[in-house]
Amino acid sequence: MDTRSSELVSKLAEDHALALAEYEYLAANLADDELREVLAEHARAAREPIYGHDVFVRGLIEFSSFCKNDCYYCGLRASNRACERYRLTQEQILSCADMGYELGFRTFVLQSGEDPHYTDDLLVGIVTALKAAHPDCAITLSVGERSRESYARLRDAGADRYLLRHETADPDHYASLHPASMSWERRMSCLRDLRELGFAVGAGFMVGSPGQTPATLAADLAFIQAFQPEMCGIGPFVPHHATPFADEPAGTLEQTLGLLSIIRLIKPNILLPATTALGTIHPMGRELGMEAGANVVMPNLSPGDVRSKYLLYDGKICTGDEAAECRRCLEMRMARCGYNVVTDRGDPRSA
Ligand code: 5AD
Ligand code: FES
Repeated sequence: MDTRSSELVSKLAEDHALALAEYEYLAANLADDELREVLAEHARAAREPIYGHDVFVRGLIEFSSFCKNDCYYCGLRASNRACERYRLTQEQILSCADMGYELGFRTFVLQSGEDPHYTDDLLVGIVTALKAAHPDCAITLSVGERSRESYARLRDAGADRYLLRHETADPDHYASLHPASMSWERRMSCLRDLRELGFAVGAGFMVGSPGQTPATLAADLAFIQAFQPEMCGIGPFVPHHATPFADEPAGTLEQTLGLLSIIRLIKPNILLPATTALGTIHPMGRELGMEAGANVVMPNLSPGDVRSKYLLYDGKICTGDEAAECRRCLEMRMARCGYNVVTDRGDPRSA
């Protein structure tokens, strides 16, 4: 590791902030094993006084695989005619959550493609019923871009958190990942609306998406620093065979781990998942993610018969398992590397 890297890590650990050019320098050097190890040590030290060895779990319910968008990277894109589409009814969603509750989940993440079938009335009904059934649980929505009015109604109905990855903080890069019908400005304005409406907000991006450079990554890190999201979802880009990016290389384990550590240092109490995509590119990816500074895992609670239809990328793990199995497996994996899965809503703790 060179002197500049070493100085930048110390500065980041102390100030929780760097300049754009400094983030770019670190992002360009994440192949350096020693740099990543030092970043990870600082990241664990920053996490320790806040979260100790606790890991938060979120029960992920993938309730619709329909999507009106056509993102170039995603297997659920509308142009993928081979993708089998399904929708869960309110009843099915609630019964998934009931099972999750029994398994100790106190946060449910309702995720779907951007599916116009779920009108505001329908989603408000689902959130209201879920909140009534499990008032001690947090509800996280991850259903894409909607109007401010729609977000406001969902918030009023009891939704606590919202995940909407910004995907990239560089507008030109954004335009190269999405068709012209999608806009970076609108995505940013959705994130601002969610924040203003009082949601705990999750941003995030893929690591190694086509066209990503140390400069675009620096923009992502500067965005995280400025926006201070409560949560940040990052995982490697993994190609899906039926998308325009089928032949692009996947993001690397090393770069993802290095970025997890940097994000922990930018915001020590951030909720940072070791994602399924990370577990997909390496058999110990999620464990390594914890060692790099993550503190959240999101086992799949979706019904067994639909799981293999919610394929954002090829090779996705956990598509053949039952919810209870997934939960047990993760608990064991976490225990083996010294972490303790807690039965808790898992709100951010104060730094
Ligand atoms: N590889 C990795 N992550 C992906 N996502 C979508 N497609 C892929 C892919 N091919 C991520 C996006 C999206 C989130 C739900 O999943 O960042 O916001
Ligand atoms: Fe799903 Fe291990 S986390 S089977």
